[in-house]
Amino acid sequence: MGMAAKHFGRSLASVLALVVSAPVVAADTPVTTQIVDALNKLYGTHPGFRANHAKGVVVEGHFKASPGAAQLSRASLFDGRAIAVTVRFSDSGGLPDVADGSAGANPHGMSIKFHLPGGTDTDMVINSLKFFPVATGEDFRDLLLAISESPPNAPKPTKVDQFMASHPSAPKAFATVSTPGSFADEEYYGIDAFVFVSKDGRKQAVRYIMAPEKVVHLTPPEAGKKAPDFLVDELPKRIAQKPVVFHLKAQLAAAGDQTKDPSEPWPDTRKVVELGVLTLDKPVADSLAVQKKLLFMPTQLTDGIELSDDPLPIVRAGAYTVSFARRQ
Ligand code: HEM
Repeated sequence: MGMAAKHFGRSLASVLALVVSAPVVAADTPVTTQIVDALNKLYGTHPGFRANHAKGVVVEGHFKASPGAAQLSRASLFDGRAIAVTVRFSDSGGLPDVADGSAGANPHGMSIKFHLPGGTDTDMVINSLKFFPVATGEDFRDLLLAISESPPNAPKPTKVDQFMASHPSAPKAFATVSTPGSFADEEYYGIDAFVFVSKDGRKQAVRYIMAPEKVVHLTPPEAGKKAPDFLVDELPKRIAQKPVVFHLKAQLAAAGDQTKDPSEPWPDTRKVVELGVLTLDKPVADSLAVQKKLLFMPTQLTDGIELSDDPLPIVRAGAYTVSFARRQ
């Protein structure tokens, strides 16, 4: 202490000024990096694994569009040909060994890479929340920080209690998820709005729904009794016996529906149209190695599918890039 004081000759006031100015320095860090830092703080760092959705399983199959899809979007994805897909199902959170049935593994994720004719890909990165807890990257960062500052022994109201009280969509969004009986028996939502462009230039805002043949949800006690890897182990086995089928659908915005806030769902009465059938029929033997090389990006679009004014996909893409760089 004496040494340091002599060396730098700083008064207490100047040290305090430094401490107070520190957040300004932190604010220069892009929010995308701040989010991945917050995820790493919350879950610890696990070399080679994703900062979020660290645990997952990869399978393969194909997508075939329904005739109605091409009327909404000119994307080659919807031209009716069979399109090969690589799909990764995942548990939430940055723990590579999270129990599939734990509350922390909700919402479960589904990422689809469509291998388009001509050699490019387009991605969908969707999950089982019906809408997002927050509307911006800053709020997502603050939610993660509030969770890490609310250990079980934290005084009430905890930071996370306070966050939930000041962001009413957050508790509402979390109430929409539960543990599925299988990755195949869950419905997944695109949450963010994208814009379809038709052959004649007509634009239609949409939100994706990936509907299974049936939804099976477990109660928390049922989920708690399941083996830690029950979801990740079951899917490849199921696929080896019988293909798993999903119906990709689009919920269509009506005139005047907002597209910029992913925490605000559109009314359930909005028209939903079928876009096509996704068939998963190939387990991937070396799934653990394969998933390390994969990067799914909500902004990896194709002609005929565009971003809306929803800011989240761009923030997400930034954070996914930071996470990918760290896990390489
Ligand atoms: C501000 C909002 C969000 C942030 C900052 C965020 C952050 C992240 C990060 C850092 C990863 C790891 C990426 C990687 O290493 O490849 C990830 C993965 C994932 N996220 Fe998000 N996320 C956000 C919102 C969402 C939303 C709205 C959805 C669903 C609609 C979603 C679904 C997923 C899924 C499914 C994965 C796993 C991707 C894979 O299988 O490789 N996330 N997220």
